[in-house]
Amino acid sequence: MIQTPVQSALTRIVYLNGDFIPQDEAKVSILDRGFLFGDSIYEVIPVYQGVPFRLPQHLARLRGGLDAIELATPYSDEDWTDIIIQLVAQNGHGNQSLYLQVTRGITGPRSHTIPTNITPTVLVMSSLLSTPMLEQVETPQTQSAICVNDFRWGHCNIKTTSLLANVMLRQQAQHAGVDEAILIRNGQLTEGAASNIFVVKDGVVRTPPEGPNLLGGITRDLLIEIMAQHYIECRQEPISQQALADADEIWVTSSTKEIAPLVSLDGSPINQGLPGPLWKTVAKHYIAFKRALCAPTHSKQDKS
Ligand SMILES: Cc1ncc(COP(=O)(O)O)c(C=O)c1O
Repeated sequence: MIQTPVQSALTRIVYLNGDFIPQDEAKVSILDRGFLFGDSIYEVIPVYQGVPFRLPQHLARLRGGLDAIELATPYSDEDWTDIIIQLVAQNGHGNQSLYLQVTRGITGPRSHTIPTNITPTVLVMSSLLSTPMLEQVETPQTQSAICVNDFRWGHCNIKTTSLLANVMLRQQAQHAGVDEAILIRNGQLTEGAASNIFVVKDGVVRTPPEGPNLLGGITRDLLIEIMAQHYIECRQEPISQQALADADEIWVTSSTKEIAPLVSLDGSPINQGLPGPLWKTVAKHYIAFKRALCAPTHSKQDKS
């Protein structure tokens, strides 16, 4: 799964408003509402061995986000899929991280009011995805975190590019010398600054239920699905900050981190600073799922 030097030496190609062009030639207007207001929706889609992972699910979430902000989706799922497959090929297949963004488009004079007859700006770009963490179950990259106050707005389920609050929260983690900020609202866990959180206690896995206070992660959903297939109990229910402190294991999930074991929270070790046994079990199931879908090919895509 390691990228070859040939792939890393490629000039990255991006898709912008109908054209496939080199990344450094791609330009967006200063009057774009994505730039002025963060009036835009995005997705991050991992690609393994040239195969976009959980693409239908990512496209469904994109559609949901666009609907929520009353932005008509510019393309059908078939069109998106064609664009993505072409872009992945132009960037040398292999492991990639795709970033897809739809902004409201270019406004006239700056105004909060959404103008009519505006054409969305569509960008898809690709970067190298470093070796997926889960390839090394025996020596995984572990994570550390602190708990911080979740001061974000009331629509965290929308995957908007208005991410200043998330950036500020992650910066608190950076200042504390840890990887992630775990967000607490009214004493309850919501999610990470850029991830969902799972907590294990006495063999039972729990994660907060979906709602306006957190993003319904594609990795979160898949993990819940995989655990159900393997009869591992996973409850979607509120989790207090105290329960985090008492956890046997904590996992951090996202499309780029996959399922990362958290081994330190607020300066205290979790499971003596080691990935837990249940993490190892679910990581192995996750890898098996990925391998079944993402055999090396240049044309296949994940239909699940
Ligand atoms: C705030 C937030 N929650 C959860 C996630 C995880 O979502 P996914 O698994 O779809 O990457 C992300 C991913 O970036 C995120 O930014």
